[in-house]
Amino acid sequence: VRCRTASVKRVCLSAKLQKAYDKIRDEFTISTEKLKDLTDRFEFEMEKGLLMNRGTIPMIPTWVTDYVTGDEKGDFLAIDLGGTNLRVVSVHLKGSSDFDFEHVKYVLPDSVRKCSCEELWDFIGDSLAEFMQNRYKVTVVQKIIPLGFTFSFPATQGRVNEGVLQRWTKGFDIAGVEGHDVVPLLQNAIDKRALPVKVTALINDTTGTLVASLYSDLETKMGLIFGTGVNGAYYEKASSIQKLLGSLPKEIARDGSIPMAINTEYGAFDNDHTCLPRTKYDIQLDEESPRPNQQSYEKMVAGYYMGEVLRLILLDLHQQGLIFRGQDVSKLSSPFIMDTSYPARAEEDDFCDLCQIYNMMKNTVGIQTTLVERELIQELSRLIGRRAARLSACAIAAICKRINCTTGHCACDGSVFHKYPFFKERAQEALDEILSWNTSRLPPIELVAAEDGSGVGAAIVACLAQNKKLKKHL
Ligand code: GLC
Repeated sequence: VRCRTASVKRVCLSAKLQKAYDKIRDEFTISTEKLKDLTDRFEFEMEKGLLMNRGTIPMIPTWVTDYVTGDEKGDFLAIDLGGTNLRVVSVHLKGSSDFDFEHVKYVLPDSVRKCSCEELWDFIGDSLAEFMQNRYKVTVVQKIIPLGFTFSFPATQGRVNEGVLQRWTKGFDIAGVEGHDVVPLLQNAIDKRALPVKVTALINDTTGTLVASLYSDLETKMGLIFGTGVNGAYYEKASSIQKLLGSLPKEIARDGSIPMAINTEYGAFDNDHTCLPRTKYDIQLDEESPRPNQQSYEKMVAGYYMGEVLRLILLDLHQQGLIFRGQDVSKLSSPFIMDTSYPARAEEDDFCDLCQIYNMMKNTVGIQTTLVERELIQELSRLIGRRAARLSACAIAAICKRINCTTGHCACDGSVFHKYPFFKERAQEALDEILSWNTSRLPPIELVAAEDGSGVGAAIVACLAQNKKLKKHL
């Protein structure tokens, strides 16, 4: 029986547990004032990143120096290496803001996150070969097909078809790639399999989201990902990217109207731990990660981590003797055993007895929960989900302020945006609070679902590169 009053259900906890819960609730609740402060810090760090790479936000120039018009045409391939899946995509850009695409998802086995460099490129090369075999049905294709590589990690770009990995994020830890340009590494894997493909562009998934959304929606102001990781891209005036002034071609440096897409890599915000309200759980999660003191903001808001935060809280409350008394918590002690679908499903459980949470806990971590414990899990999930969405709004607001944008669309993609309950509504509400809008009417800056940036976006940038619009940087 579904409980119609689920949303007003109150947790009835023992006094000690109530005290522990209240403390967690207070620490996870972010006031409007704090959101505004964080937004100001964000803006400041973005400015520093454009000036001289001194801030915590890398602000990577992408060399995508054209606004997309929607007229781009042709057939392209894209490889999308992001967080959870590898996708191979074939895209047909029709011009007139229209496109078709086909894609195949290859689930990245968990082992790939920490495999050897050879295994990674073999996995990608084999997946592309299999896709082409099935898609084109013949092994010999007459023409060389241009490929856009969506590489969703911080990669320094000196030109559009280059990407030197700064550091792995999202739990990836593969030796021998950091500090290297991944384009020749991918091209090598392609050549080894004699595939008629040339990697002509490397893009971040946020840049892809930005250009793909702009292809069909000219109101797009930024491309944002809320998924395994978080990040955003927007167009900056090329002449405002101070740190590039020595290397920009003169005609670009002089012409104040030429844009350049910036992959902000804002997941790294506050790596120096000066302003984010980190709880002891965030600190523990960071310290136990393969790259401590990196991606501080991402670790508080992204899909790769939200389930883990819930696990750490539950384990802590158990260790304090407050929940799961007498139960075997050995499974719950395994890092990352609860992915973000756990808090998401817990928030969504609207059965009176919270039987979804009961099954979830019993089947995955072997714990039999009482109703009170399930209510607690649901409330904790709300706190984690709400905090993630509200903090996410700071980055969006900071970009809006940076580009003086008062109307338009923020194109959003990623599993958290699409699947986490109420994420969009909560983030929009927080954005409205930060920018102090009257929310009784449509917000002037709206979060909208994006086009497939990692596939179509990569194809568009590959097309721009091929059209020689970017030839000076190739
Ligand atoms: C991580 C990556 C970044 C990517 C984001 C979303 O933050 O460092 O490049 O855009 O995840 O996938």
